[in-house]
Formats: sequence, C-alpha cells, structure tokens
Amino acid sequence: MTKSLNAIAQKLVEPGKGILAADESTPTIAKRFAKIELPNTLELRRDYREMLFRSREAMTSYISGVILTEETLEQSAEDGTPFRAILADADVIPGIKVDRGAFPMPGEGGEKITEGLDGLRQRLAHYASLGAGFAKWRAVITINDIAPTRNNIRANAHSLARYAMLCQEAGIVPIVEPEVVGDGEPGNHSMERCAQVTGDVLENVFKELRLAGVDLSGMLLKPNMVLPGINSRDRPSVDDVARRTVEVLREHVPAAVPGIAFLSGGQTDEEATAHLAAMARIPNKPWPLTFSYGRALQNVALRTWAGRRENFPAAQAAFTHRARMNSLAALGEWNN
Ligand code: 13P
Repeated sequence: MTKSLNAIAQKLVEPGKGILAADESTPTIAKRFAKIELPNTLELRRDYREMLFRSREAMTSYISGVILTEETLEQSAEDGTPFRAILADADVIPGIKVDRGAFPMPGEGGEKITEGLDGLRQRLAHYASLGAGFAKWRAVITINDIAPTRNNIRANAHSLARYAMLCQEAGIVPIVEPEVVGDGEPGNHSMERCAQVTGDVLENVFKELRLAGVDLSGMLLKPNMVLPGINSRDRPSVDDVARRTVEVLREHVPAAVPGIAFLSGGQTDEEATAHLAAMARIPNKPWPLTFSYGRALQNVALRTWAGRRENFPAAQAAFTHRARMNSLAALGEWNN
C-alpha cells in the first residue's frame, strides 16, 4: 500500500508534468461562468470539462493528474464516454476534491475552517472504487490585522491531517493544501508577512501530519507561493518571490515529501509561469516542484470556449499553450 501511494505521488510530479485543478465547486464555477455571461448549467459544466479533458496534446504531454469534482468523476462526455475513460486513455490520473468548502469560523478575523470530515471514510472508499488515485482538501488561511489566529491555524492543520490519514487508509494519495490567501481583502500585507504566516502554517501542518501517523512519502503538498497581498505596495521581483518561497519551503517541508505542486492563487497566467520557472532554476531542492493550477491554466481557454462547442479547437489550443508553458517552467526551461 505504502509503495503504491509513493508511486502515484511520484507519477503526479514526474518531470515536465503537473496537475490540472478542474475541481471548481458549483458556486465557484458559477462565478467563472458569470464573468463570461454564461448560466451555470449541468450541460455547460460538462461541455467545458469535456473541452479540457479532450485536449489530447496537453493531457498526454503536460498533465499528470486532474482534480475533479464529485459530479465530474461520475460524468460522461456528450457522446456518452465517461470522463474517467477519456483521462485513462491519456494516462492521466483522476483525483477528487473531497472537502465540502471553507466556512466562516466564529470570531472577529473573518477566518475560515474547511468542512467535510463527516462520512469521509465512506466517501473515499467510493471514490477509490471509481479509480480516484489522489484527493485534495483545501484549507484557507486569512491574513489581516487579527488573522491568522493560532486557533485557526491549528484547527485547519488538524483537519488536513485527519483527511490525509483517511485518504491513505483508502489507498488514495492526499494532496494537502493549506492556502495562505493573497488575493482576498484587505490583501495589503507584505511578502515578508506572507512568508512568516506560510512558515507558521506549514510547521503546524507537518506537526499534525506526523501526530496522525501520515506517511509523508505518500502525499503531496499544494502550497501558495510567498507573495505580497493583492493590494500591497510591496513589489518583489520574480526572483525575490522564487527565492523566498523556496527558503520557506526548505525550512518547513520535510525531504520525505515526494513533491510540491503549487496553486496559482489569482496570479496572472504569466506570473504563475514565471514564478514556477524561477523556482525550478534554484539548485539543490529536496523535492520536485510543479504546478497544480486552476485559473492560471484555464483563464484564456474558458474565455475562448465561451460556451460553444464549435470553439473547442481554439480553446484547446489556448489550454495546451498554458500547459506547455508551465511544463517548460517546471523543467526550468521557460524563458519570457
Ligand atoms: P488556482 O490555481 O486557481 O488558485 O486553483 C488551484 C486550486 O486547486 C485551489 O484549490
């Protein structure tokens, strides 16, 4: 069991490949569709994901795994082919978002706690029977004058650890995602404050993972990059971000972890690629680094698709381009 968890984790971060996060919950995909004036219907969600998953070049060359929603894991393309079969045909590992979302935590700081542990053991057994090789749980850490509190960091770290141990019991690789949010309000914090909070969060997460007996060689970490808040006047260079992010990770992420796959967190497509490329070029890191992007892989493809099946080829070309750029970035071979 342990060996196969490690094998799945390693395959997800194999050189030049990364993860497509296509697990937008129904409210989140509704927001994305609303921006291009589309209603959030089952058919449009299916068409959109079909467009992505049938991007043959991207899926076979640059994508190792796709994070799906429960709906998509059991869904089929318009012609009746199950999405799982389309992914298997491209040798892409299906993953599943298993948290139920981040909900307000009592207190003044506007903090959130992720829910979804109740019944998770049964759900994981079901997802494993459908072929899910990995899972994702996202904890949301807020930065403002009073947040994050110790209580919030500990509660989220503890939930991540309980999720991760249940995944491993089910033979599913847990992606542990503690996101220190940079694109929320007020978003005026400096890069250094993000570095400190990210370090503190990671320290607590690995403490809880160890206490829970999680096998660190059978998981992946999905962290934020160390960045100033979206409204900050702090403007570090690409190399500053890369250096500080790798420093924080080196200090807090054990070498036993088989890989780190970043979220894009509201960066522009090009920023997300440039930061990954700059980190990849830093020598002597104990773990491979790659992407597990949602928006930074999908922004242009979504707009190009615009809800129309006749736009599939153009949207697939846009998606393939971003996947290729991020693949080159992960290899340290991307230049702008
Ligand atoms: P973004 O890359 O759009 O931040 O999404 C990644 C993700 O899976 C967040 O949970």
